[in-house]
Amino acid sequence: MEWGMKNRLSQLIQKDGKALFLPIDHGYFQGPTRCLEKPGETIKPIYQYADAIMCTRGVLRNCIDPAINKPVIMRVSGAVTVVGEDLANENLVTGIREILRLNVSAVSMSVFIGTKYERQSLSNLAKLVDQCEDYGVPVMAVTAVGRELEKREARYLALCCRVAAEIGARVVKTYYCKEKFEKVVEGCPVPVVIAGGPKTETQQETFDFVYDGMQKGAVGVNLGRNIWQTEHPVAAIRGIRAIIHEGCNPKEANELYEQVIAGKA
Ligand code: R5P
Repeated sequence: MEWGMKNRLSQLIQKDGKALFLPIDHGYFQGPTRCLEKPGETIKPIYQYADAIMCTRGVLRNCIDPAINKPVIMRVSGAVTVVGEDLANENLVTGIREILRLNVSAVSMSVFIGTKYERQSLSNLAKLVDQCEDYGVPVMAVTAVGRELEKREARYLALCCRVAAEIGARVVKTYYCKEKFEKVVEGCPVPVVIAGGPKTETQQETFDFVYDGMQKGAVGVNLGRNIWQTEHPVAAIRGIRAIIHEGCNPKEANELYEQVIAGKA
């Protein structure tokens, strides 16, 4: 692996081998999602606890201070919306010149395996990997399910992660599943990070699945709504960070969460 690629990956995955990515890219297909109406404001109190921010070029250019001291993972797929026909029909929405111009540390795009757009999204992943590898920019593939949340089970996720890695993704982001998540990670030759999904009912549930996913081999998370849509985003991200980088269990993370809310930590 060349120096540039190694350097960028080390900005994302920290010295302890773990990573906490903070995605605020949801507007690319959902519009002004709740709590993300002003993405720059949303991340102000919390971004310092993240290892990288994930967003589109539009949010990056318009809402993020260029002097920010955090690596950026730029989403480069889109062109569909929640009011359109099919969320799986994504395309690449920018290319390598813009990726380099914006000086991002990595890019991400979704693949929709098992849909009628499987070939299109996987071919786009291959094209993106080819462009980015020339310049040492890591590609993070996102195994997306659109509205079909029930697809999130180990056999399907393992297939998606493996295929994305085979095509050349340097990191894969996928959903957590309660049963056999270790099979998803074991079958994937590149680091796997867990996406959050819709907001959980309690904060404890988030701490539980993050912890379990890490125990089963994930290197970290790419978690949005279960941080910035919660009542206490700073306490939430600090609890998650404690699990990822400080070896805390869910109970300890929850104790920290309560202490932060009470102003004692
Ligand atoms: C989703 O469309 C985006 O790619 C998000 O980055 C991803 O789903 C993770 O965010 P959340 O934890 O809110 O699901």
